[in-house]
Amino acid sequence: MLSKKIEAALNAQINAEFWSAYLYLSMSAHFAAEGKSGFANWFKVQFDEEQEHALKLFNYVVERGAAVELKPIAEVATKWDSPLHAFEETLKHEKVVTGMINDLVALAREEKDYATESMLQWFVNEQVEEEATAQGYIDALKMIGTNGFGIYTLDKELKSRKS
Ligand code: FEO
Repeated sequence: MLSKKIEAALNAQINAEFWSAYLYLSMSAHFAAEGKSGFANWFKVQFDEEQEHALKLFNYVVERGAAVELKPIAEVATKWDSPLHAFEETLKHEKVVTGMINDLVALAREEKDYATESMLQWFVNEQVEEEATAQGYIDALKMIGTNGFGIYTLDKELKSRKS
């Protein structure tokens, strides 16, 4: 069994992961409407990934015999000034998620729930990758600046992301 505190915190994290999915799907729609199909694809795959994160937590809560409570998903933005702006917002958001995961790990330790702490290690590692990826695209887009050919080339590259 999970403690009530852990159960509530994991449910809050499930909601945060679905909110992340929603955010990236909105970014995908925005870039699709702008004709940037590579950026649209990249954020769509990111949407899939966030749903997987939510389901990983969902399955764990179920496996531990606790209750899943799906709360409403808050509204997300629909417009970004540029691909750079979208990736900056992505990094900002992923840093918030990292903080949430770290707080969850701290709570699991406090509650002596070592199974939950162990499960959360996957998320700790995943967040390192998530932040590094967003930072990498921010660096590339800063180099590209307003160069249309650079944006076109990166858009083409992002079209090939499958997972
Ligand atoms: Fe599920 Fe991007 O954190």
